[in-house]
Amino acid sequence: MSLDVAAEAELDGAANGVEPLVGEGSALKAELMTGYTGVEITGVPLQELSDDDVETVRRLIGDYCVGAFPGQSLTPEEQLTFVSRFGTITKTPGVDMRSGVDYVHVVADRGDADNPVSGGFHTDTCFVERPPSFSSLYAVDVPRHGGDTMFCNQYMAYDSLSEVMKKWLVGMRFKHVVSGTDRPEEVPDPVWHPAVRTHPVTGRKALYVTFAARCVGAEGMTEAEGRNLIDFLYRHSMRDHVMYRHRWHPGDFVMWDNRCSMHAAVYDHGDQPRRLHRVMCEGERPFE
Ligand code: SIN
Repeated sequence: MSLDVAAEAELDGAANGVEPLVGEGSALKAELMTGYTGVEITGVPLQELSDDDVETVRRLIGDYCVGAFPGQSLTPEEQLTFVSRFGTITKTPGVDMRSGVDYVHVVADRGDADNPVSGGFHTDTCFVERPPSFSSLYAVDVPRHGGDTMFCNQYMAYDSLSEVMKKWLVGMRFKHVVSGTDRPEEVPDPVWHPAVRTHPVTGRKALYVTFAARCVGAEGMTEAEGRNLIDFLYRHSMRDHVMYRHRWHPGDFVMWDNRCSMHAAVYDHGDQPRRLHRVMCEGERPFE
């Protein structure tokens, strides 16, 4: 190998410690979007992914929490078909879909120009026995600027706890309840999920918390003790270096793994329209 070719190979990856994310022979290309969280996946339209590609995507999103697929063109039915390759399609109880297509939820929010806020980091529909493994959004109409979605990495939240705290959380369960629903009568009873869950694909442990309105108690603790513990773990989950922030373009398809991430919309887009189609699939009962 000439010096030039050797230098190029080194820049390409393996030799400088950066392993290729997708095996040789696949048409998929994958690139990390930050140091640890978010992977951009390109190379094949979603409608044409082989079964092997789907397994690669499942692994990549499991490893890096969120996958972004730019430049797609998806009808609601095609989005349903794609997401159903990852699990049985599901929806949030008591929430109107607003799309005319069952299981396709229209996310349409206006920003507040005077008081821009974040939707609050959360993991989707945690208040059911089997919360969604994957959620997806397809960008139909997005602001020229603003209205991003942020993601944080719950493996890193867990890994960075002290060994004392990790031991303390063994066997700990948190109570999850519904908040913000169109039809409260359809909402299930509260459920208890482990504070730390093991991801079934990666085998890694991730902190499983969500915002205060939905994560309301710790088993065996007083209300104040539970509140303080959950608030600490929630705040601990949100540090800059564990985040990926997605800036939307029309045709973006983004899919995340709720078992190892939280996400939050940022409503800073004023009156600009923002319309995305959301489809989710069911996961397993969370286990420690
Ligand atoms: C959601 O919270 O599930 C939607 C996120 C978004 O609108 O960006």
